[in-house]
Amino acid sequence: MRVLFAIAELYPWVKTGGLGDVAAALPAALAAEGADVRLVLPGFRGFLDGLPGIADRLRLATPFVPERVRIAAARLPQSGLAVYLVDHPAFYDRPGNPYTDAAGADWPDNHRRFALLGRAAAALALGADPDWTPDILHGHDWHLGLAPAYLAAQRAVAAAAGAASVFTVHNLAFQGLFPAASFADLFLPASFQSVEGIEFHGQVSFLKAGLHYADRLTTVSPTYAREIATPAFGAGLDGLLRRRTGDLSGILNGVDTAVWDPAHDPNLPLSYSAARAARGKGAAKAALRRRFALDGDEDAPLFGVVSRLVPQKGLDLLLAALPELVGDGAELALLGSGDADLERGFTAAGAAYPGRVGVEIGYDESLAHLIVGGADILVMPSRFEPCGLTQLYALRYGTLPLVRRVGGLADTVVDASAHSLAAGTATGFGFDGEDSRALLSAAERAVALYRDRAAWRRMMRRAMTRDFGWGQAARQYMALYRALRPSA
Ligand code: ADP
Ligand code: GLC
Repeated sequence: MRVLFAIAELYPWVKTGGLGDVAAALPAALAAEGADVRLVLPGFRGFLDGLPGIADRLRLATPFVPERVRIAAARLPQSGLAVYLVDHPAFYDRPGNPYTDAAGADWPDNHRRFALLGRAAAALALGADPDWTPDILHGHDWHLGLAPAYLAAQRAVAAAAGAASVFTVHNLAFQGLFPAASFADLFLPASFQSVEGIEFHGQVSFLKAGLHYADRLTTVSPTYAREIATPAFGAGLDGLLRRRTGDLSGILNGVDTAVWDPAHDPNLPLSYSAARAARGKGAAKAALRRRFALDGDEDAPLFGVVSRLVPQKGLDLLLAALPELVGDGAELALLGSGDADLERGFTAAGAAYPGRVGVEIGYDESLAHLIVGGADILVMPSRFEPCGLTQLYALRYGTLPLVRRVGGLADTVVDASAHSLAAGTATGFGFDGEDSRALLSAAERAVALYRDRAAWRRMMRRAMTRDFGWGQAARQYMALYRALRPSA
């Protein structure tokens, strides 16, 4: 089974969130299940500088630019998987992050940048590399939404041409919306600019293109797969998703244990495991409290946050609940960056409660590990959460998640109810709704349980031993690929 994995981010070279983590782990897990996987990535500077052995592979004629576009080859250092880099510096070699300039504004030519990426992926799926033609083109998020559309356009000319397509939604809120006039820059058949195509309320939607033209759709948890077919979570695309329910499945992400394992984590003072967690966990907590100069009661529960600071993550609720939480003696260590008002809000909270609330605005992989290891409770009150990886990392590190019961959070965290505690299945704390008092009451339940050391240790051990490896997900994707290409 040859699989071309088309994606815009890849940890550790280019990452803005969980998408980069998935790109780093899932292809290798698919390879372990017997797939012959290659990746296609945009030629971002992070990749050009970081990937070893970059060499010419082929040149691709495209309608976007007069010159042929260099497709370079590289190999991933650990897994050895082959990579195609769409190396068009005028599009991809820019300062800032993959999607925006350094000031956070979307690049004005994003539709052309990601059309080229989608077109290159489709070309490879149609045999542009004579040595390797994939059976499956697996594209991710709006950045690759056009890849299935270009494949479909080719099929209209030559039926059954090329690979079958799978499109995975990691976040329905990022839609890749552009003005209708940009359609002319995409070089798709005119008939595609319709409601039964890529048009979305008078605009062009790359995400909708993926949802409409791919042969199969997936998203990253079973609950989110159900949620996005409803108006409340469907971001205007729920009608299309309801029509395609038979083609849509939710496959839960996993944890890359090469990167997230408390038994081998250079960012922690001591390693620890489920069987012997107490000393290592205590040392991580002490290091984290020192790092943020927290000086309350050292036996008080320490809440942690590692997050993009955006409305999706619901952290305004935590901000509202903070005075009472701190009043109850709790401490907070937060790392995040994003929207200016949330950054300001948490910075102000840090100043209002020195020694109790530690806030670092920024992006810091190493500190993220220390918070995930050193906190007692990880807070993720997301309004929606396609899967969420941070709570999975927290579970593995024995840091019990406090989550809103949506999407992947609902699928991965078992609320400590009387029933689940008695049954020995509880791994965290859940709440519902839009009210910070609901978060607060879940936090108070957590604090009460935290005081029962034996019960807490049992929950930690259970959280740490739950299996969130990538193997399960890889097997489900393989089954999907086989259903599309039984003879491959
Ligand atoms: P999302 O992709 O929606 O941001 P996930 O929970 O799936 O949410 O993944 C977030 C990833 O980004 C995790 O690997 C998390 O550790 C990382 N992360 C988020 N914010 C930061 C930050 N400020 N510094 C370091 N890592 C961060
Ligand atoms: C998105 C989602 C997050 C998910 C990640 C990886 O960024 O917001 O919930 O875990 O993609 O699939």
